[in-house]
Amino acid sequence: MGRVQGKVAFVTGAARGQGRSHAVRLAEEGADIIAVDLCEAVPGVNRFYPGATEEDLAETVKAVEALDRRIVAAKADVRDYDGLKAALDDGVAQLGHVDIVSANAGIFIFGDPTHLVSEQDWQDVTDINQTGVWHTCKAVIPHMIEQGSGGSMILTSSTAGLKGTPNVAAYTASKHAVVGIMRTLALELAPHRIRVNTVHPTGVGTQMILNEATFRLFLPDVEHPTREQAAEVFATTNALPVPWVEPIDISNAVLFLASDEARYVTGTELKIDAGYTVR
Ligand SMILES: NC(=O)c1ccc[n+]([C@@H]2O[C@H](COP(=O)([O-])OP(=O)(O)OC[C@H]3O[C@@H](n4cnc5c(N)ncnc54)[C@H](O)[C@@H]3O)[C@@H](O)[C@H]2O)c1
Repeated sequence: MGRVQGKVAFVTGAARGQGRSHAVRLAEEGADIIAVDLCEAVPGVNRFYPGATEEDLAETVKAVEALDRRIVAAKADVRDYDGLKAALDDGVAQLGHVDIVSANAGIFIFGDPTHLVSEQDWQDVTDINQTGVWHTCKAVIPHMIEQGSGGSMILTSSTAGLKGTPNVAAYTASKHAVVGIMRTLALELAPHRIRVNTVHPTGVGTQMILNEATFRLFLPDVEHPTREQAAEVFATTNALPVPWVEPIDISNAVLFLASDEARYVTGTELKIDAGYTVR
């Protein structure tokens, strides 16, 4: 028996990075998957790192199917509530129910002092990282309540949801907001045995941070900082001697929270941060 055998998990931002890793890890432990992703670039993010593609989402589908689990995947934008709900409802119609949510889709825009952040950048980050998480919860909650069999909602925040980060105001605010959504829902949904928790990764080795623009945030005086140079500086931010963690490290935390091993864990901020926040 897998640790989430027979359950169905809804994963947003599932085309690549942590979202793909969560989908695959949950499938390894017996879950079927409803996967959504924007599958295109957000214009304001393109100057830092490229968007995911439909080919990326197809890779996730292949990886889950290779484990003999079912997956219903769709291109959907967490900013568009109706489109997101339609994708989820279609998945539930095909797979029968939804028991686990990983509200993982997010973007990273950074680099400006707070008073110089553009209106567009602030809006893009807030719309996706904050409103998108609310939309994801809003779409899934009626299913879980109606099913009457409980559930586990795992919202992806960040160490930036627990600490201030200079020149990262919109992202930091949005990731703190995710904690507010989680704490509220943990109380609202406890009578239905629906648990709600956040995960707080330190840097994770995905395209979101493994790019020159992010390296320059840590090495502002170097014109073309390399991954090796960045790794040295990143490592000084964590207590454990690692520059960043891997998607699988977050997936294992998501799996724990999704499983019945965490049956009385709700309202918790689970840090997978190599000691970043205790420094
Ligand atoms: N990488 C890190 O260092 C790090 C650290 C802490 C938290 N996080 C958070 O982890 C989550 C996953 O990020 P990742 O590291 O895998 O980065 P990533 O960029 O590889 O993956 C993010 C995914 O979300 C999708 N997405 C973006 N906007 C969307 C939208 N509007 N609708 C649907 N899908 C959308 C992207 O297309 C992409 O596939 C994000 O919420 C991020 O903020 C990342």
